[in-house]
Amino acid sequence: MNEDSGVGGHTSGLGATQRTDRWWIEPLWTALGFLAFVVYSNWAAFQGEHFWIGEQGVGGYLSPFYSPVLFYPDGAAESLHAHAWLGEWPTWLKSIWPPFMPQSPAWLILAGPMSFRATCYYYRKFYYRSLFLAPPGCAVGPAKQKKYRGETALLLFQNLHRYTWYIAVCFIAILSWDAFVSFWEGGVVGGNFGVGVGSIVLTINPILLGMYTFGCHSCRHLVAGKLNCFSCGLVPKARHSLWQKVTNLNENHMFWAWVSMVWVGLTDVYVRLVSMGVINDLNTW
Ligand code: FES
Repeated sequence: MNEDSGVGGHTSGLGATQRTDRWWIEPLWTALGFLAFVVYSNWAAFQGEHFWIGEQGVGGYLSPFYSPVLFYPDGAAESLHAHAWLGEWPTWLKSIWPPFMPQSPAWLILAGPMSFRATCYYYRKFYYRSLFLAPPGCAVGPAKQKKYRGETALLLFQNLHRYTWYIAVCFIAILSWDAFVSFWEGGVVGGNFGVGVGSIVLTINPILLGMYTFGCHSCRHLVAGKLNCFSCGLVPKARHSLWQKVTNLNENHMFWAWVSMVWVGLTDVYVRLVSMGVINDLNTW
């Protein structure tokens, strides 16, 4: 409990507590920040355009909300065709696609990163406190008195976190490739090497995601779990050293969760604004 705490507050009703500090600030700003990200990311995913630039004297810039592009939508820029893993938007997908929605490749891949974030221990704390008020803070009464059932019933999906970690690592590899590609105007093979603000923005993105992903509790277990002796041999020593690095990241897991999430959004904003012609990309091409 915060050292400012003492007897006070109110002891009945929603948020009943004896705490007198401003315990509600953290769950409030967390909820507002996350809400802003959800609103923006859904809006951006819904657009289905201005997520790729490959023809304006810049390297190929792809928004992380849309990466990887599984199918390119009808009318997509020709330079995007080579980046679509499975070619053009297929007929079977057109037949089931809701008519009010633009063909947006973002909806086809968002479940991957979302499944990782939604099951992360930090985000669990966020939605238990800020959304479900169960409870909203330490030593603060919950919205509803319920029997604690742990990760059972509907919350069983949270146990998938250790598996979604592998999905997150795949996304880091894909976004790293996107960053690499962004340094080559006209493609990696036969294109011109150069550096643009966009390529720097795209490069920072997988680095920050890596800081978040490799500080995961599952990663910590993966590198040094089930090890009884850290100093017994070269391999345990190497694992111990790796575990220390992961632990350093893990200690700031909340920080990396926020910074990486905000940067993903800013990267989309940057690609979108350049694609729309609102700003020019400064570059060396
Ligand atoms: Fe947060 Fe695994 S615990 S990413």
